[in-house]
Amino acid sequence: TEIKQLHRTGFHFQPHRHWMNGPNGPMYFKGIYHLFYQYNPEGAVWGNIVWAHSISKDLINWKSLKPALSPSKPFDINGCWSGSATVLPDLKPVILYTGIDSQNRQVQNYAIPANLSDPHLTEWVKPDNNPIVDPGTEVNSSAFRDPSTAWLSLNGHWNTIIGSRSEQTGMAYLYRSRDFLNWTKVEQPLHSVPNTGMWECPDFYPVSHFGRFGLDTSVMGNWFKHVLKVSLEMTRYEYYTLGKYYPMTDKYVPDNTSADGWSGLRYDYGNFYASKSFYDPMKKRRVLWGWANESDSVQDDVSKGWAGIQAIPRMVWLDPNGKQLLQWPVMELNRLRRKIVMMLNQKLVKGQIVEIKGITAAQADVEVIFSFSSLDNAEAFDPSWVDAQAVCSQLGSTAQGGVGPFGLLTLASENLEEFTPVFFRIFKAEANHVVLMCSDARSSSLKDGLYKPTFAGFVDIDLSSKKLSLRSLIDHSVIESFGGGGKTCITSRVYPTKAVFGDAHLHVFNNGTESITVEYLSAWSMRSAWVN
Ligand code: FRU
Repeated sequence: TEIKQLHRTGFHFQPHRHWMNGPNGPMYFKGIYHLFYQYNPEGAVWGNIVWAHSISKDLINWKSLKPALSPSKPFDINGCWSGSATVLPDLKPVILYTGIDSQNRQVQNYAIPANLSDPHLTEWVKPDNNPIVDPGTEVNSSAFRDPSTAWLSLNGHWNTIIGSRSEQTGMAYLYRSRDFLNWTKVEQPLHSVPNTGMWECPDFYPVSHFGRFGLDTSVMGNWFKHVLKVSLEMTRYEYYTLGKYYPMTDKYVPDNTSADGWSGLRYDYGNFYASKSFYDPMKKRRVLWGWANESDSVQDDVSKGWAGIQAIPRMVWLDPNGKQLLQWPVMELNRLRRKIVMMLNQKLVKGQIVEIKGITAAQADVEVIFSFSSLDNAEAFDPSWVDAQAVCSQLGSTAQGGVGPFGLLTLASENLEEFTPVFFRIFKAEANHVVLMCSDARSSSLKDGLYKPTFAGFVDIDLSSKKLSLRSLIDHSVIESFGGGGKTCITSRVYPTKAVFGDAHLHVFNNGTESITVEYLSAWSMRSAWVN
């Protein structure tokens, strides 16, 4: 079938064709980054799931290899679902993944490279002693999946967590092993939260208190925190907590600085799911991969011939305030930056829009620092506004505010019939200011039958410098935005009909009474990456 290129991305990871969902087993091994992913080799809809496999030297340009795991044995004959890679201390990678077995149960299997001296690790073997974990009689066999990267405990055993639920209580079961083959369930799950439903793709890793350096999943010591992330099947959003892990007792206790569950912290307040992180020992960083699903119809996907992209891999580290994570696109992305256009000290009065001309606005990277001289005009914040998304869709980007809405109009058509605004709005609350960040797809396309959500999150940031920064990666059908230096991230998928290729435009705008200054803006045309 013909692949329609209109909304394909230029520098995001996607297969040449067909369906892709979550990233699997990302790892660094002997100079090469590996990315596996949930893939349907037969079409642009979910099904027939295999582990497709690509390799890279820079996380941006990728070469695709043959699938690493395909259904073939009784323990995975109905699908090779999500899982993770662990590089054992003797430099032997192992994959743990969920197989859908001949009885349609979810079981956990392992796979190892057929030939460790093949630098690409092309061939993977699924030994016959699989499955290594089955749900038994205690665990719900249709809700038992997505083993995490394993980590070593102080007493020398390996641990992995597996997503599950019991009734409506979401949980991450903890399994333990001495030899990576025989696994036993620990009585208490690592963590569970009532009324959150199935937890998919749990991820558990340490983050250091200071600096941006990442930590190996198995690092020993007590000078760091841990992150527990889960993908909630019910909401299709991901939530994480920061907390303390006690390796002697294998207990995890979340900090009480934010909610645990529904209203907790998110990696991304938009379209970003089933993520996985890994430690990159070369650059000493933790890298996060997440899937951005399509927001068009199944019919559209079939006629496009493809569905699903991976967000640009992000470095993750702990905010110096200790209360949340920060994220930023890996620096290798900057090598695709080509032509630059800058704007300095551009004042934006109420209602003003200024175009950023001279770049390929459909495939661009924009960094901007906005400033304002006073917050006196900030509107009052209604304390009942706990749901950022609801506030954002109520207020929008076009109706006048006090301080904001101001930001970028991305993927805008010539006469603004189509545009996706990414913007801030600042409110005055009782004791502080509240910053709202939005990425609003409602006006993104003239086409009907698309999902055009208003995504939003609050930005927990100190405004004493009277500045607010925003970076957006714009790539034909995706806009990934990083507010406040990576404090709040929002990914939107959009399908403009007019704002495509050379007909897409980029603007800065301000619809608040308070004037806003674009202190500094750089926008780059982005080259296309070599992807699969
Ligand atoms: C996440 C997920 C996983 C599962 C896989 C199936 O989106 O549902 O829980 O392993 O995708 O493709």
